Amino acid sequence: MALIIPRRLRDKVWPEPLPPLTSFEGQTVLLTGATGGLGLAAAVHFATLGGKVIMTARNLSQSDSVRDYVEQHAGIVGQGKIHIMELDMSQYSSCVSFVEQLKQSEAGRTGIDVAVLNAGVINVDFVRSPEGWEQTIQVNALSTTLLGLLLIQWMSQTSKNSILAPHLIFVTSRDHLDPNITTWPEWSSQEGLLQHFSDERNWPSGGFDPNYANSKLLLTYAVEEICKRAVGPNGTVDVIVNTVCPGLVYTDLGRSIAKMSRLMQLLVPIHTGILGKSADYGARFYVKAARTSKHEHGKYIQSLFTDEEYRSLAIPNLMTDTAMKVKALVWNEIITELKEKVPALRDLKDIS
Ligand SMILES: NC(=O)c1ccc[n+]([C@@H]2O[C@H](COP(=O)([O-])OP(=O)(O)OC[C@H]3O[C@@H](n4cnc5c(N)ncnc54)[C@H](OP(=O)(O)O)[C@@H]3O)[C@@H](O)[C@H]2O)c1
Repeated sequence: MALIIPRRLRDKVWPEPLPPLTSFEGQTVLLTGATGGLGLAAAVHFATLGGKVIMTARNLSQSDSVRDYVEQHAGIVGQGKIHIMELDMSQYSSCVSFVEQLKQSEAGRTGIDVAVLNAGVINVDFVRSPEGWEQTIQVNALSTTLLGLLLIQWMSQTSKNSILAPHLIFVTSRDHLDPNITTWPEWSSQEGLLQHFSDERNWPSGGFDPNYANSKLLLTYAVEEICKRAVGPNGTVDVIVNTVCPGLVYTDLGRSIAKMSRLMQLLVPIHTGILGKSADYGARFYVKAARTSKHEHGKYIQSLFTDEEYRSLAIPNLMTDTAMKVKALVWNEIITELKEKVPALRDLKDIS
């Protein structure tokens, strides 16, 4: 679309405004994948705006440097408002024990006001997760959905004690518009979609990660189901759920693409350097998503398209009869997988 480049340049120059400094005072904000890039920048924003921030890292050896960075940049050194917890989303057991530890921590008493499920990957080489699925599908779609389901149950219960509805935010990407889903029903009836995306023979050698866009579309479908679980029996929204795209941002996400060749080593930083905005600017959309109203429950927060443009672009993957069929097939595969492997979800009720 011809408007994409000018809008990316606009967002690079004119940042999304931030709310007043005390906007998150007394609130607890959870950010997954916060050791770098957008997660780290978002931690600085939420902490500057008064929030207590719980950040996750795969490796706790980074804790001190990450905490120091956020405290210094938010001007809150020594206030004890930044906590780092371990989470490795390549394994369900880590996601489950992370949520259990969260409930045992101080957040178990106060509840979580904002949860931003930000962790994500792009791989160039095929990697299989310990759960048996291709790693991009595992982290961006399956484990993010698992965390979303575990958190929505808990946040819906704790929301009853708070005046403001909490926010559960899923970081997706514009790329969820890209997959051509017309063959998905056929793949689903043959080996299954998750199996298809996790078959190394379908992975192009030397190409871009074919599953990044697929994973973000799978997640977008799953979030529609999670949205239903955020609404109480009387139709009130207990937890405001949104998806968000930060736009093109200059981070380490493309590190594996840059490693593909010398040419890519040059092209990736040039592309994201010219068109991509800073992590500070991209993470402002997480702050925006954390302040949506109940009327915006389920909305995709982004700046690249107007709402009308997005509605039209989303027709093939989200609105057509094929899209409805694919959505149901995807959810069925995801929930079957999660219920089978995660005992904590075995009793999860279906919501139609
Ligand atoms: N950058 C963009 O242009 C852009 C555009 C649209 C959407 N997004 C989305 O924004 C989110 C953040 O991306 P970013 O650009 O900030 O990339 P990034 O700098 O690579 O950050 C990704 C974060 O995810 C964490 N992570 C990766 N694999 C994980 C795993 N198995 N378990 C737990 N955490 C894991 C990483 O932790 P480690 O430090 O341990 O690797 C890191 O903290 C992603 O969901 C991405 O898809 C980015």
